[in-house]
Amino acid sequence: MTEGSKRARAGTAAGPLSRRGFLTAGAAGVAGVSLSACSDGTGQDDVPATHSPIASPTGLEDADWADIRARFILEPGTAYMNNASLGMPPASVAAAVGAGYEALSREPLHGKHDLGEVIATRVVPGLAAFLGADPEEIVLTRNASEALHMGAVGVHLEPGDEVLITSQEHPAGRRPWEYRAARHGVKVNTVFIPSPFESEEQVTGLVESALTPATRAIAFCHVTRGGHLYPVRSLCALARERRIVSHVDGAQAVGMFPVDLHDLGCDTYCASLHKWMLGPMGTGFLYLRADARDRVRSAFAPEDTTDTPAYHPPGTSPLPTRAALAASLDFMEAVGIANVAARTRHLSDQLKSRLASLSGVTLLSGPTPATSCPGSTIFELEGVDAIAAVPLVEERAKIHIDEHQRDGHNAIRISTHVYNTTAEIDRVVETLQSLSA
Ligand SMILES: Cc1ncc(COP(=O)(O)O)c(C=O)c1O
Repeated sequence: MTEGSKRARAGTAAGPLSRRGFLTAGAAGVAGVSLSACSDGTGQDDVPATHSPIASPTGLEDADWADIRARFILEPGTAYMNNASLGMPPASVAAAVGAGYEALSREPLHGKHDLGEVIATRVVPGLAAFLGADPEEIVLTRNASEALHMGAVGVHLEPGDEVLITSQEHPAGRRPWEYRAARHGVKVNTVFIPSPFESEEQVTGLVESALTPATRAIAFCHVTRGGHLYPVRSLCALARERRIVSHVDGAQAVGMFPVDLHDLGCDTYCASLHKWMLGPMGTGFLYLRADARDRVRSAFAPEDTTDTPAYHPPGTSPLPTRAALAASLDFMEAVGIANVAARTRHLSDQLKSRLASLSGVTLLSGPTPATSCPGSTIFELEGVDAIAAVPLVEERAKIHIDEHQRDGHNAIRISTHVYNTTAEIDRVVETLQSLSA
């Protein structure tokens, strides 16, 4: 066992969790343990990851974020820059998952009840408030894919009706409509969106010109896998004007910057909570706007009505994992989502400016903050195969990155969250330089 995982185990075994303790402390409170800090391996920033209250950072520099960084238990010496694939939960979230399972093992009946109560009274209302929605509009799922499928299957469509998606959708956003085409005779049209694109108006114009009188739904990302930021508000307004259902994939948005669902005006919104939100793996949600219930129905219960909607997937659900979302919410609320957005933007701006000094780099992220998200950066490196680069960078520098060989690119994707540092950015750029040398 490595030193880091030994410490993590010691932390999660921080003492028995009484039923009352779980309820009063909540999922985050059970994580009152001391874990090793996220470190660069030099030993210089090994600050104990205590669970003292988090003070929201006042600046953008690494020093301002040292206490936040200390809340993570990444193996010393490793740098994680692949949040767009899977987020790295802080120690408090890992401990809350463990505590939830412990509660079930100690007393399954009461444990189940108590975890359910945490979800009903803290997680769902907390998530709704965090996202500018009402609790009744939130359905917890295992991931974004499940939510995207539930929303798409629920849209009332007749054979011959059309759905418009964009060329940059994740398979999780595309496949539910292909399913509807195969099973229900729906026609799926795809509008090409360039990567990168020039402006919000360009995307709205392209989508508008691809609508037909038979279009009944449009489905698109908030942020694409390549980090391009679609103009969601304008696209939803366009859909509303034409009485078309808007179905948004927010897997790459929630937890990276503020998202206000009522303000965006979408009918459905689907996201993972195990990416930028730093929640436990296997968490996500479907948002269904209350007044869209007549057009998007339950995927499970044919007898549902708008007054008695039945959107929740039936059966046993992973209560400990879901209850631990309270710890992710606590973390995000303490840090402040606007601070998260500013810090991730600060780090990706630094990455972009370092990359600009390398020869053979073509930056593919959008040209302005209105077209590129704060956290993910894509670029090509002349003479370097992006898929081959991923394991090489890990081998040479213990840095986890990803590739983006899609949308016509041979790109590398680096997705940085609040705990990354300038030193890590320097290290990844130096390593990339060594690959292209
Ligand atoms: C844009 C987008 N949508 C959907 C998904 C699927 O997310 P999940 O694995 O949570 O289902 C991903 C995952 O990378 C994604 O990037």
